[in-house]
Amino acid sequence: MAHPQKIIIDTDPGQDDAVAILLALASPEDIEVLGITCVAGNVPLALTQKNARIVCELAGRPDMKVFAGCDAPLQRRLVTAEHVHGKTGLDGPVMQDPVMPLAQGHAVDFIIETLRREPEGSVTLVPIGPLTNIAAVFLKAPDVVARVGRIVLMGGAYFEVGNITPAAEFNIYVDPEAAQIVFRSGVPLVVMPLDVTHKALTTAARVQAFRDMGTEVGRMVAEWTDFFERFDMEKYGSQGAPLHDPCTIAWLIRPDLFSGRDINVEIETKGEFTIGMTVADWWRVSGRATNALFIRDIDADGFYGLLNERLARL
Ligand code: BDR
Ligand code: CA
Repeated sequence: MAHPQKIIIDTDPGQDDAVAILLALASPEDIEVLGITCVAGNVPLALTQKNARIVCELAGRPDMKVFAGCDAPLQRRLVTAEHVHGKTGLDGPVMQDPVMPLAQGHAVDFIIETLRREPEGSVTLVPIGPLTNIAAVFLKAPDVVARVGRIVLMGGAYFEVGNITPAAEFNIYVDPEAAQIVFRSGVPLVVMPLDVTHKALTTAARVQAFRDMGTEVGRMVAEWTDFFERFDMEKYGSQGAPLHDPCTIAWLIRPDLFSGRDINVEIETKGEFTIGMTVADWWRVSGRATNALFIRDIDADGFYGLLNERLARL
């Protein structure tokens, strides 16, 4: 892969989204963030676009272009996750409102214009929230689909089953019709499902390492994780919280930390109990064409080592 890789992060911050954005902005030798596009998900759009700007300012990047996108799924009513992320979406530390402005224009138009302007195949999309904005891009401008280099997304679950319903992971569940468009688009996909993100757990020692950085970023990340992990520890009895979304950025920097399989993944949009399920043909029994690299394992120590090394720069 050419370095630095040009990416657009499509996000609904979210504490783990915030860490993903920080990891990308801390890694200019590997990643050039062309812009950040926001979508409704963990909390409504008015909060996700504000939160993304808070994170950019924290990273010392008030120049970053942050766009607001779709405020509701393509066909359904928005489902949010304040029960996980808190009322603001970034509960934990005390935060100031951002000073940097929101970029002019709609996120969907920014993505379309960027894909038309940049060389074909050179831009990676990194969606770490519901897939509404990306599907809206493909519906509005079918010509840009073939110009996307690849999509590296957080979403779905198979062996680990669902977190928002017994069958579905949150990002896919919120907008399954959008997910179906993306999974059937023909763009090469790298998928970080709960199967892998639930192996990227914070532990007391890992959170302490963030705190020990002695920086504002280290303190904020530790306080975000402290807040975020109480939910998973109660629910799963786990030792910490899964840092879901940073797995996407870590894969772009260090794909050797991950392993998975090239398989077919379909999105359930009609099931009685299974709306939003990612039907992952891990055992290759369906005969359906491969459309995704579905990740299942991670070197968690390597992942946290990378996070520490990079976030300490900010
Ligand atoms: C996903 O949903 C959100 O709550 C997180 O930010 C992550 O993107 C995990 O299911
Ligand atoms: Ca997210």
